[in-house]
Amino acid sequence: MANWKNNTNLSEAHVLAMGVRNELEHIDGVKVVLCPPAVWVTEVKNIVHDQIHHMAVGMQDISAEPTGSSTGEIAADLVEGLIDYAIIGHSETIELHKFDAEIINEKIHSALASKITPIICIGEEQQSSGSKYALAKKLDSYLDNVSAEKRAKCVIAYEPIWAISKGTKQTQRPASAEYANEVAVQLKKVVPANTTIIYGGSVTATNVLQYVAQPEIDGVLVGGASLHLREFSTLVKNASRGS
Ligand code: PGA
Repeated sequence: MANWKNNTNLSEAHVLAMGVRNELEHIDGVKVVLCPPAVWVTEVKNIVHDQIHHMAVGMQDISAEPTGSSTGEIAADLVEGLIDYAIIGHSETIELHKFDAEIINEKIHSALASKITPIICIGEEQQSSGSKYALAKKLDSYLDNVSAEKRAKCVIAYEPIWAISKGTKQTQRPASAEYANEVAVQLKKVVPANTTIIYGGSVTATNVLQYVAQPEIDGVLVGGASLHLREFSTLVKNASRGS
């Protein structure tokens, strides 16, 4: 899953999406989801079209509000059929908008009601011995009133806040794959066993295999490295070898 964050103008988004499609159109065993800035979702969707079944497009957030007079928001209803995924509760988004668990929960419900798969981000500020249990509890509160059947349709992204890079090599501080797997084991306790769990935080072409080789980790959410075509396509090819 590629999170382009607040990067790429129209021509950069076009060139990057074209490059990803050309490089990864025939890859096996990996699903590639591109989450560009909302304004380029249609552009990217036209490139990564429906005929390429292992590629999809997502948004980086979705409104908890229904359609109507909420200026600046994008309701799930509006993008139903256009996108397949929406990142919900990314730590950077939470920090900027001061979202609480109740809003995250509403966003999850609205995405699911519009057949959009929520990629629910969860992560701790600082690593401590008890944090994995606290995260499982927090995830359960995010998923309040979401049935087991619907929980299994969500993607859960373990994204330790301390491991997220600021998009540069200097700021990369990935969690160890073993630790990420331990957290995934705890998160799995509040969702059905077949729920997809991924890891995010300073993932690169070099370390991706360590994560996807873990028994409870099914994929990765990639920020900085997803903006560089060569790095990202190598990362996906490496992941495909480990799948
Ligand atoms: P990063 O970002 O890969 O640059 O650490 C991950 C994320 O924030 O989703």
